[in-house]
Amino acid sequence: MKTNQNYATLPKNYLFSAVAEKTRAFQKANPERSIIKLSIGDVSRPLPSVVVTALRKACTEMGKSKTFRGYGPEIGYPWLRKAIAEFYTQQYQVKLAPEEVIISDGAKSDLSNLLDIFDPQATVAMYDPVYPVYLETNLMLGRQPQFFYATAENDFLPLPDESIKADIIYLCNPANPTGVCYNRAQLQQWVDFARKHQAVILYDGAYACFIQDSHLPKSIFEIDGACECAIEVGSLSKMAGFTGVRCGYTIVPKQLCYQGVKLNQLWCRRQATKFNGVSYIVQRGAEAVFSSAGLLAVQKNIAYYQRNLRLICRTLQALGWQYYGGEHSPYVWVRCPQQMTSWQCFDFLLKTTGIVCTPGVGFGVGGENYVRLTGFNSYANTRLACQRLLQLKK
Ligand code: MLT
Repeated sequence: MKTNQNYATLPKNYLFSAVAEKTRAFQKANPERSIIKLSIGDVSRPLPSVVVTALRKACTEMGKSKTFRGYGPEIGYPWLRKAIAEFYTQQYQVKLAPEEVIISDGAKSDLSNLLDIFDPQATVAMYDPVYPVYLETNLMLGRQPQFFYATAENDFLPLPDESIKADIIYLCNPANPTGVCYNRAQLQQWVDFARKHQAVILYDGAYACFIQDSHLPKSIFEIDGACECAIEVGSLSKMAGFTGVRCGYTIVPKQLCYQGVKLNQLWCRRQATKFNGVSYIVQRGAEAVFSSAGLLAVQKNIAYYQRNLRLICRTLQALGWQYYGGEHSPYVWVRCPQQMTSWQCFDFLLKTTGIVCTPGVGFGVGGENYVRLTGFNSYANTRLACQRLLQLKK
């Protein structure tokens, strides 16, 4: 028996596990220190009450023989698919059919599992620094992706050029980890490029709810021609506090077709065989997110995190540290002071302030000399973190 040798090409630990391990070791060695986590993008606001009510109601239904449900449709209940399609129409002016929305347990799994529907020889390109899941799931399959670099010179918003040769192109907008956001014209360039080269864009829109400027596109399907070259993955994690509840969706347009094969059919086929669907209870909770009360609560939570982000950005300005993002994204991408490496800066911040950040190099070589902060902690903790940061000025 042989194990998958491709795993030997992975870093020893998943980035956020490595950060958690280092944090635990520091806390063990310094039990008196108070630690503030501004690292993994995990939400701190509780679920909206309208969601909790829906979850409770669904639980009660499951406990009564008349309303009990067993297996649901692997690709999601029609009422949730319809609610998400309507949300896209109302909020983004993107017309979708419910059949184009396929429910899942989150963006991370979908972005990995989507690789199943492509040729094992398909070539892949992604930006660097990048969400490690895109890279590592390809490495696991023995693929060596091509990188295009997000740098300070291109404002961390790389655009397509003819050196990119790939069947599958990953984009995340607003970007993880850099927190920056493409405008319409820039996304149009990617769509035009993908169509010209018969490539498919895997578009991660998990942070779209953070986009404040109404001129910025919140979905790739706002861009002309995207229905012919893109798959969009969305998540309720950051939007509605579902990191621990688990629900997301993938939009595969009906007209998305390569070599006469519809990708929507392939994806549904894949899910039917390998996935038994998200629980009825969770899907009822997810449905409540898209109600008017749910969307209002979402807005309030996003505004809460944005207040944290404004405070972080103001603090960085006061320190004179260069940063990107933080405006249309929960992430702030900070240039390490005094030319520290990412891990040096991680250790420095932990030791001097008790703040846990994410070292930029963990997202790829292009992330060296940067760290990432999030606005997802409580306001009280964020304020404390910023007060501690300001002490560094003295
Ligand atoms: C992050 O911190 O980059 C995200 O929380 C990771 C994720 O959503 O899986």
